Amino acid sequence: MDWGMKNRMAQLIQADGHCLFLPVDHGYFQGPTRKLEEPGKTIEPLLPYADALFITRGVLRSSVDPDKTKPIILRVSGGTSMVGKDLANEGITTSMEEAIRLNVAAVGLSIFVGTDYERESLLNLARLVDEGEKYGIPVMAVTAVGKELEKRDARFLALSSRIAAELGARVVKTYWCEDFERVTRGCPVPVVMAGGPQVDTELGVFDFVYDGMQKGAIGVNLGRNIWQNDFPVAMIRAIRAIIHENASPKEAQELYDSLKSGEVTG
Ligand code: 5RP
Repeated sequence: MDWGMKNRMAQLIQADGHCLFLPVDHGYFQGPTRKLEEPGKTIEPLLPYADALFITRGVLRSSVDPDKTKPIILRVSGGTSMVGKDLANEGITTSMEEAIRLNVAAVGLSIFVGTDYERESLLNLARLVDEGEKYGIPVMAVTAVGKELEKRDARFLALSSRIAAELGARVVKTYWCEDFERVTRGCPVPVVMAGGPQVDTELGVFDFVYDGMQKGAIGVNLGRNIWQNDFPVAMIRAIRAIIHENASPKEAQELYDSLKSGEVTG
């Protein structure tokens, strides 16, 4: 691995081998999602506890102070919306030149395995990897499920994650699921977990993050279950404890409960 690639990977994955990425890219197809209506306000209190931000160039430029930020994973795929015909029909929205200008640590793009746009999204990934490798910029592949949340099972996610790794992604973002070790075992590059829509209880989130870490994930790329929580700072700190301090779900819950009393809700 070249120095630049190594350096960027080291910015993202911390010395303990783990990472907490904070995704705030949802607006690129969901518009002003709940609690992300004003991204700058959502991001600011959470930034100290994130290892990297997953974000589009528009929100990065408009809402993140370049003087005090964290490593950036730039979302570079899009072109569809919640109300359009097919979420899977994404293209590459942002050039590698722009990613370099923004001094990013990585770029991220969604793949849509099993859809009408499977081939196109996989070839987009392959092209992005070719470009990224040229400049030492890692690619994080997002194994998207679109609106079909029921696709989040081990068989589908293992298939998508492995294909992403085969095409050259340096990190794969997928969902936690039952039998999660099947996903990580079949994926020869680091796996991080997304959360999807908000889970009913905080403990439900702590449980799946902990389980996924035991089963081979290196961390999370967790958005709504953090910033849609009534106490997002308590939530990110509790999740951070699981990822970087090997806290149990019970310990994470205790930390969350103790921190939330001091947090002003948004
Ligand atoms: C949205 C994404 C998100 O980055 C990803 O889904 C993680 O966020 P969440 O935990 O809210 O699902 O790719 O397109």
